[in-house]
Amino acid sequence: MAMLNQHLIDPQVCIRCNTCEETCPNDAITHDANNYVVNAQVCNGCMACVPPCPTGAIDNWHQVLEADAYSIDAQLAWEELPPRQSPAQQGVGVGVASALHRPEHLAVSSSDVLRGASVAPGSAARPHVNLYTCDAPATAIVADNYRLTDESADSAIHHIVLDFGATLFPVLEGQSIGVVPPGAAPNGRPHHARQYSLANPRDGERRGYNNVSLTVKRVTCDHEGNPALGVCSNYLCDLRKGDRVAVIGPFGSTFLMPNHPGSHLLMICTGTGAAPMRAMTEYRRRHRGDGASGRLMLFFGARTPQELPYFGPLTTLPKDFIDAELAFSRMPGRPKRYVQDALRERAADVGPWLADRNTHVYVCGLKGMEEGVLLALRDIAQCYGLDWQRVWADLRREGRLHLETY
Ligand code: FAD
Ligand code: A2P
Repeated sequence: MAMLNQHLIDPQVCIRCNTCEETCPNDAITHDANNYVVNAQVCNGCMACVPPCPTGAIDNWHQVLEADAYSIDAQLAWEELPPRQSPAQQGVGVGVASALHRPEHLAVSSSDVLRGASVAPGSAARPHVNLYTCDAPATAIVADNYRLTDESADSAIHHIVLDFGATLFPVLEGQSIGVVPPGAAPNGRPHHARQYSLANPRDGERRGYNNVSLTVKRVTCDHEGNPALGVCSNYLCDLRKGDRVAVIGPFGSTFLMPNHPGSHLLMICTGTGAAPMRAMTEYRRRHRGDGASGRLMLFFGARTPQELPYFGPLTTLPKDFIDAELAFSRMPGRPKRYVQDALRERAADVGPWLADRNTHVYVCGLKGMEEGVLLALRDIAQCYGLDWQRVWADLRREGRLHLETY
């Protein structure tokens, strides 16, 4: 009887971030409102989805008889993974069963689906990941929570400071955490955790404190513009000082900043995508006197200045520390300007950076901007006589191009 090493996603660990579905080169992964699942008939075990998964929920392999493979419908209904079958249940001897294992021999796909790097910058510090899980979350206390965007702005984006007190919670710039909202979903199951990028540097939101910060947009309508109150973003934006929050993570082992002081950071973001850029910028600002020669360039898009989180502090940073280019799309009487337009306008500065092996590129924010930004970088590289395919391959191989869009 044919055996299958069936690829499964653990619904208790998965934070429904969609990364696996986006990454799978074979469209084997799908989801409904409950679960993310893998189609056994389509999955070829290429492992492309495994490294990008922030929690490791993706990395489950059950040996089953091919005829008994768990169907998509069965997986969608799961609240937890089924117990692993014994060799006797599988109808094979122990020797045969133990010879079946994860398809580790298959190389991680280098297909174009993974357009950013799947490795960290060479000089990045080693991150801690998955120290806390839904079964055993860390508890943080809200130390601060205030609105960043102007009261007149359509979007309410909050800066939220969470203090871990004596609980160990080491983080690096570019990492994220999961927040577990209290209560249950309409199906009676606990809400799943939502992921938020950290906005603070590794030495704390307040230097020397065991605290982190988040940049959270209150979701009041769905992606189609229909009214919808997002569960976790509203919970977070409504928190008061002293409230307790269940946190899992930290997550992220690739979108990290280089420690090498000579590295240049080219940061491109929209809206709450500013969080990791703030973290990296603040780290460099705090260590400015330590002899770093690398430069910082930021392209930041928002509808208006009133919608741009951290607008005030950003405009007061010295020009010789960070070259910040703001792109506003809804300024009365002015044409729409996106970050990719600003990149093209600044081609004379961006081109030489793309040729420089010290440059690290970070893109974070709206999913829709990814393609436009990569096309702008490609065009700028070509204008400067660079072979974009080669530049792109180098950026990815050396962990110097990171995309985090949602
Ligand atoms: P849900 O209750 O999950 O959704 C309610 C409805 O709103 C659904 O119809 C859903 O499709 C729709 N919806 C979900 N998200 C959005 C959105 N952003 N805009 C419009 N409609 C939406 N969010 C931040 O605010 N700050 C961050 O720093 C941040 N970092 C993230 C990093 C990663 C890697 C990922 C994957 C996501 C990140 N997010 C961030 C998004 C965050 O995880 C949640 O998806 C978001 O807060 C919505 O959750 P919710 O529970 O409020 O909405
Ligand atoms: P727009 O005015 O077209 O919505 P948001 O406020 O929704 O978080 O978006 C942040 C900024 O990103 C806004 O200025 C928005 O412009 C802009 N934006 C929207 N789509 C894209 C895209 N495809 N590429 C780059 N920027 C975009």
